[in-house]
Amino acid sequence: MHSDIKKLFSLENRVAIITGGAGFLGMQYADTLSKAGAHVVLFDIKDEHTIQGLAKKITDAHGVEALGIRVDITDADAVEKAVTEVKDKFGTVDILINNAAMNPAVGDKHADKLFAPYEQYPIELWRKEVEVNLTGAQICTQAAAPIMMKQRNGVIINKGSEIAVATYDHRAYGEGSGKFKSAAYITTKTSLLGLTRSWASYLAPYGVRVNMFCPVGMQTPAHDKEFVKRYASLNMFGRMAQPGEYNGTMLFLCSDASSFMTGANLIVDGGKTAW
Ligand SMILES: NC(=O)c1ccc[n+]([C@@H]2O[C@H](COP(=O)([O-])OP(=O)(O)OC[C@H]3O[C@@H](n4cnc5c(N)ncnc54)[C@H](O)[C@@H]3O)[C@@H](O)[C@H]2O)c1
Repeated sequence: MHSDIKKLFSLENRVAIITGGAGFLGMQYADTLSKAGAHVVLFDIKDEHTIQGLAKKITDAHGVEALGIRVDITDADAVEKAVTEVKDKFGTVDILINNAAMNPAVGDKHADKLFAPYEQYPIELWRKEVEVNLTGAQICTQAAAPIMMKQRNGVIINKGSEIAVATYDHRAYGEGSGKFKSAAYITTKTSLLGLTRSWASYLAPYGVRVNMFCPVGMQTPAHDKEFVKRYASLNMFGRMAQPGEYNGTMLFLCSDASSFMTGANLIVDGGKTAW
């Protein structure tokens, strides 16, 4: 590959915080960004041993410095402390990916309540989802933005979903399944668009870019065959996204390859919302 193109996509020595970094997609992004040369920091609420173990795996595999910090993104003081720890260690924060969310896969037996009928949906769950999916992104942005403003450079990516622009088709769960994608999930993902545009406009004078990335569901072993068939039929390719298929988009958004892009919403959905 020509060196100019390599440079365009290179994240050499950049420091990237990924919230929900110990999750299914968070780890895929961490792996990709570190392969591009970034030092990645996983912010997650899972136990410390797990998060640090995953960070070590990345360090061992790619020779960059990865860090795992147990932090609840809804706790503003804890987030401020964690971001300061990153800044003290690396001297900079170049990339923030607001990726953490309450997002159980359908079929996850521990998450039945999150698929409850809307009129019965527990209001405490609604509040929790707003707190994690939306307020958490605001809290992390508030903590990282001043560092980026000062260095007059930085990238923030809010992780949405295609349901930010078109609501969920509950028929994917099967006729009469009694399962519904949480209205709180859909509402918070839609609201992240507002958060993206507000911060993009606010931070543009400082050379800091803010974009949103909206993919459709990626297949996991937790999905049963029938669900996969129904969900896949909703997009133009007739299949679910496979692990790894969002890495290129994330690299594009984090790198200089997207240097003139801010306030945008990048939808990667196999043509689902174009139908
Ligand atoms: N998986 C998909 O197919 C898909 C599709 C579209 C959008 N998304 C979005 O991508 C993002 C990642 O999804 P995923 O499938 O990897 O989910 P996941 O559940 O595997 O990962 C989410 C991570 O966030 C962490 N987390 C939850 N609450 C937290 C908190 N308060 N503080 C810190 N960390 C917290 C969890 O511990 C978990 O590791 C989410 O925003 C999701 O809405 C996922």
